[in-house]
Amino acid sequence: MTQDEMKKAAAEAALDYVTPDSIVGVGTGSTVNFFIDALATIKDKIQGAVSSSEASTEKLKAYSIEVFDLNSVDILDVYVDGADEITEHMHMIKGGGAALTREKIVAAVAQKFVCIADASKQVGVLGSFPLPVEVIPMARSYVARELVKLGGDPVYRQGVVTDNGNVILDVHNMEILNPVAMETNINAIVGVVTNGLFANRGADVLILGTEQGAKIIE
Ligand code: A5P
Repeated sequence: MTQDEMKKAAAEAALDYVTPDSIVGVGTGSTVNFFIDALATIKDKIQGAVSSSEASTEKLKAYSIEVFDLNSVDILDVYVDGADEITEHMHMIKGGGAALTREKIVAAVAQKFVCIADASKQVGVLGSFPLPVEVIPMARSYVARELVKLGGDPVYRQGVVTDNGNVILDVHNMEILNPVAMETNINAIVGVVTNGLFANRGADVLILGTEQGAKIIE
């Protein structure tokens, strides 16, 4: 199987977690794009979606799937999203697509986080993938200096503005042995909107696309 076929297998298996007549939380990225394709095949059986990015909103709307404002939704059973890295403890690095803040907000509301990923995303220790941090533009240099104090090498993601009008620092060379503490510590730096560690609220289910097809880890 190619990497795309593994992503597709994981994405299609996530349909089993979609509750009939519900509003579905939808993440962002290439794996989620396969999920949106799959969701379109059952669009008459759901009310619609809450989206974590302008890109996903556009794709959902192209399939005529109604996109709800999160503020108008009381209950979200399931949030389906990809990851850049995920551990056996269901801790993740996300934000390779710069959508981390809205992803974290929708994930916080959802009862269940279903992570869909190809097998290459499973790691022992987080940090080989540079950790994205969304920052208020005027705080960029200050936050970068604080991230160096935490042991990382922050690199400004040139030319990228998030859906919220902010910038991204990608933090290289961090071996993240305690993701829960690191997530909290980085979020405490003034000027940080949020960081791409999803550890305090990790995934509840991982659907891993493997050579043998979709493997469910709960
Ligand atoms: C988007 O900001 C990210 O959090 C994505 O969920 C993550 O980068 C995974 O993307 P792919 O599915 O494209 O690998």
